[in-house]
Amino acid sequence: MGLAPGMTTVGLIGSGNIGGTVARLAVAAGHDVVLSNSRGPETLAELVAELGPRARAATPAEAAAAGDIVVVTVPLHAYRQVPVKELAGKIVIDTNNYYPDRDGRIAELDDESTTTSELLQAHLPEAYVVKGFNNIYFAHLRALARPAGAADRSVLAIAGDDAAAKAAVTAFLDSIGYDTVDAGPLAEGWRFQRDTTAYAGLYATDPANFFEAGPAPVDAEKLRAALAAARRYADA
Ligand SMILES: NC(=O)c1ccc[n+]([C@@H]2O[C@H](COP(=O)([O-])OP(=O)(O)OC[C@H]3O[C@@H](n4cnc5c(N)ncnc54)[C@H](OP(=O)(O)O)[C@@H]3O)[C@@H](O)[C@H]2O)c1
Repeated sequence: MGLAPGMTTVGLIGSGNIGGTVARLAVAAGHDVVLSNSRGPETLAELVAELGPRARAATPAEAAAAGDIVVVTVPLHAYRQVPVKELAGKIVIDTNNYYPDRDGRIAELDDESTTTSELLQAHLPEAYVVKGFNNIYFAHLRALARPAGAADRSVLAIAGDDAAAKAAVTAFLDSIGYDTVDAGPLAEGWRFQRDTTAYAGLYATDPANFFEAGPAPVDAEKLRAALAAARRYADA
């Protein structure tokens, strides 16, 4: 594991709102992307054409095999369909959130005995899962990217159990326009799960009017305070 400096191939399992946004940011930063979805590569032709020669579409297994970093960004209910063998030894960024109306009830998330990214890690025992991109609305993710050193550069939270994987993800996020705050191991990922203080409203100018609000830059101090103030669902 580990990444050579410079260009990375990013595999995307899921190419919707968040997958498409990460792909756009990655291509803009000079990375190659391999997109995939559930309906087949031909259904991604428009996005591939928009992204240009650094992008191609493939099956989920091919995207997994091709990626130096692979972003899993499907509705959580589909996580067991994510290819296992091809992701052995890979760095996997997990963007998924638990929405029971969409995903159905998942008992071990309801009783908070585990977290979404730990479920994906259990499904991918030989991968290095890093939770990331899950607590920012895709339009805000696209709008808030800034070059290193910009005064209004934002910071994104990550969590993971492997230091080298987190370092690689930190370098990737830096390349696409973000600083990083490490929230700890995957078990601490609940600190920026759905409905916490560190969830997507943090990056909106008016959280009460979330979808109409513009993006609000978030610095490390603000994100750390939100992570520290987070309460589990049961305590919220
Ligand atoms: N929307 C946001 O702003 C946002 C922000 C942070 C995190 N998230 C979380 O990130 C995840 C993705 O969200 P999204 O909004 O990007 O969803 P989305 O727009 O609905 O896109 C989901 C993508 O996953 C693909 N997919 C579904 N089942 C699949 C499978 N079995 N194998 C491979 N690909 C599959 C879909 O392909 P088909 O269309 O071909 O089925 C689609 O490309 C969710 O867990 C969400 O809660 C979303």
